[in-house]
Parts: sequence; structure tokens; C-alpha cells
Amino acid sequence: MYKTNQHTLFMGKNIVFVPECPSTNDLAMSLLQQPAMIEGTVVITNCQTAGRGQRGNTWITEPGQNLTFSVVLKPTSVSVKNQFYLTMATALAVYDYLTGKTDKPVYIKWPNDVLVEDKKICGILIESIVQGNVLKGAVAGIGLNINQKEFSISTATSLKNVTGLEFDLPHELNSVLALLEKRYLQLKQSDFSGLHSDYLNTMYRIHQLHLFKSHDESLEGSITGIDETGRLLILCKGGMRSFGVKEITFQ
Ligand code: BTN
Repeated sequence: MYKTNQHTLFMGKNIVFVPECPSTNDLAMSLLQQPAMIEGTVVITNCQTAGRGQRGNTWITEPGQNLTFSVVLKPTSVSVKNQFYLTMATALAVYDYLTGKTDKPVYIKWPNDVLVEDKKICGILIESIVQGNVLKGAVAGIGLNINQKEFSISTATSLKNVTGLEFDLPHELNSVLALLEKRYLQLKQSDFSGLHSDYLNTMYRIHQLHLFKSHDESLEGSITGIDETGRLLILCKGGMRSFGVKEITFQ
């Protein structure tokens, strides 16, 4: 049912569909080890039995209802210090896709959750292989909630819940992939400032006073952006502070 993308240069030209697998990221990572594997190869499944999320979390999704896939990438011109731009490019592609589907505001919650109506509609897990100071390869894993109606957590939603419509998964996959290719080419062309400013424009709760938790410390401050390595910048009472992914949570 998933077909080669006719609207891209390389993204989704090769599609590997497996009815069930533990994690598409794991499968894509093993394909990435094969030197002949073409960039833009997509591994997609109907049912992930051991889906992985950020910070060691699991990713659970109703079989056959959502887009659960990973893309094989070779961002060899991207240096390790710029690797957060791959996260930005991927999240922005999902943002671009969703803003074309709904008039409701879409936000990227740092580092790469995509939210609509304050609920998570998409999670992204990027894993990369470093060689020297560049990215030899990467897998961009995307869990995008499309037709699922009920969620075990109240903080999750889907495109169906947001729009009231039912979507054709293969068609939607090809739309996301076309937008991912655009953003990925922006990265390959080293348009870092373009990605950075687009990311800032979509950032959840930017410039709003909010409560955060860092380890055991509660803190109040407002997000002002991210630094050049992707650390979150928060203006707190004591001044500007920066945080890595495992160092801060929204309250
Ligand atoms: C998160 O928000 O914690 C990230 C979730 C990422 C889930 C996707 S689903 C496809 C790919 N395969 C995985 O095992 N994880 C990612």
C-alpha cells in the first residue's frame, strides 16, 4: 500500500514496509550499515512492538492507525556541533505538514515534540552515527498520530481528533516525505540561520513566563531560544541559563 514517492528526488523512493517490527529506528539503523543503502530509504510498519522514544521512554501507538516510520539519512556535510539542525529540520518538516492540514496553531516543543491544542501529535527520535567530526549517517524516526481516536494519556492527540477527518496513510506519508526532503535540503545547503529562525518562530511557550523543573529545582523563567548547540535558553530571575535535553522538563 505504501508506494515510491513520485514527488521527491530521493526521500521515500525506496520504501521498506514491514507489517510488524520491534522498532523502525532499529531496522533503519541496520539498513544504514549497508554501504549501498540509498539515502531517503523509509522503513515503515503498521505495528511497532518495542517503539522507542526520547529519554529512554517507550512509544506506544495503535496498530494501523498512525504513521510510524524511520528515514535513513547520510548528512555527511553536517558537523557534530551542528547536529541539532537535523532535529530542527525534521521537526520543521512535520510542522510544515501539519500547518497544511489544520488552521489550528502548531508548535514545536523543544527539542522536537510537535503539539496542536497543547497536546502531542508527533514524537521524533533522531539517532546518528558520528565519524570524526561529521555525521556519517542518521536515522530520523517519526511517530505521527493520524487516525487514532483514543489515547491512554490525555496529553496526546491525532490529526483526526484535531480536524474531525479520516486520512489515507500512504498519501499522508508521501506528503510528509516531500516536506522532509525540502527541509533536509535546506540543511544540506547549510541554511542554518533559516532553520534557526523558522524553529524559533514555531517554538512552544517562547517568551512566556513558565515553570520548569531541573533535577530537584523548580524554576520560573521564559524561553528566549536555543544556543548554537541546541541547548534551551531560559531567562530566569538570576539571569540567562541553558539546559540540555535531560536537564529540564516543562511543569
Ligand atoms: C518521543 O517523543 O519520545 C519520540 C518518539 C519517536 C517514535 C518514533 S515511531 C518510529 C520510530 N521508531 C521508534 O522506535 N521510535 C520512532
